[in-house]
Amino acid sequence: MAKIVKIESCSDYENLNDAAKALANGELVAFPTETVYGLGANALDTQAVKNIFIAKGRPQDNPLIVHIADKEKIYELVCDVPKEARKILDNLTPGPVTVVLNKSDLVPDVVTAGGKTVAIRIPESEIARELIRRAGVPVAAPSANTSGKPSPTKACHVAEDLEDKVSYIIDGGSCRVGLESTVVDLTVTPPQILRPGGVTHEELSALLGEVVGYAGGTSEKEAPKSPGMKYRHYAPKAKMTVFEGENIEKCILEEIKKHQGKRVCVLCAGVREYTDVISINCGDTPEDYSKHLFDALRFADSEECDVVLAEFPFKRQGITVALFNRINKSCGGNVIECR
Ligand code: TXA
Ligand code: MG
Repeated sequence: MAKIVKIESCSDYENLNDAAKALANGELVAFPTETVYGLGANALDTQAVKNIFIAKGRPQDNPLIVHIADKEKIYELVCDVPKEARKILDNLTPGPVTVVLNKSDLVPDVVTAGGKTVAIRIPESEIARELIRRAGVPVAAPSANTSGKPSPTKACHVAEDLEDKVSYIIDGGSCRVGLESTVVDLTVTPPQILRPGGVTHEELSALLGEVVGYAGGTSEKEAPKSPGMKYRHYAPKAKMTVFEGENIEKCILEEIKKHQGKRVCVLCAGVREYTDVISINCGDTPEDYSKHLFDALRFADSEECDVVLAEFPFKRQGITVALFNRINKSCGGNVIECR
């Protein structure tokens, strides 16, 4: 059973020491970041990293992100640091962005799923960086959920999925962003976004010049460059439908009528509520909605909903590209345009 360590301010950081030691010694420790909670292991310890895959039920071909606390640590993990990487490190980190670079021999194959590149990220969360610094090792960490389930944005979500599989859960409260980091491949020219996330295409282009945006639609048949994007993800147990466009309210009211006698949950974007259903207000900005989406999907599961209907009134730009990517995966592409 995991020990829960609650960190409320920097005066609690001493309480990270036991977890940091366990992490360095090959145990699994879940920790908060500004994006989602991570399931951490010592990235240099092959067996510890294998245990991440076992704990999550994660496919072996899906590589992990290596987390470091300080920029200088990147040099031992990669062959070279091109100028684009330097710019990202200097301007956007610590923050919700991950760079893919050619790996050094120090990085075990299990971390990169046998590939020649490694994904590296410096989280903005002080708690995450403090834990990594105290462990004294780079930390491989996927999101701390069972594979396929919504990513965890609160410590209780981690406990739901992994309580008996990790040594410690560091509780740092709710994650600021609520969606995973942007993954950008810097081994190609121009750089290419492999997963949209907390740092936007617009921000990356402003910094680097041309950047190829997330292409989307990666299917099982292609050999995706970011293997994680091909799997069913972020899904609640209920059948889920997302509603976009001008007449969302009308569409949802009609849809609710079709499910009489079922438990229906509606994810609302701030403005309205619906009667005779479980309404969850996710917030009226893309930022708020992103922060609450995964929590809302887990809540719908805990309420044993049969049907989840989600309002999606946002234009697809900035952070909304990442938000749409996640909600689209959650509903398995079941998006209705309401005219
Ligand atoms: O915000 C985040 O990135 C969170 C927190 C915990 O840091 N982590 C996270 O990890 O989302 P995970 O494992 O759930 O997703 C990592 C994504 C996957 O889509 C994976 O395929 C991709 O990054 N990835 C990892 N290493 C890669 C590599 N060398 N080349 C291309 N894609 C890579
Ligand atoms: Mg994940």
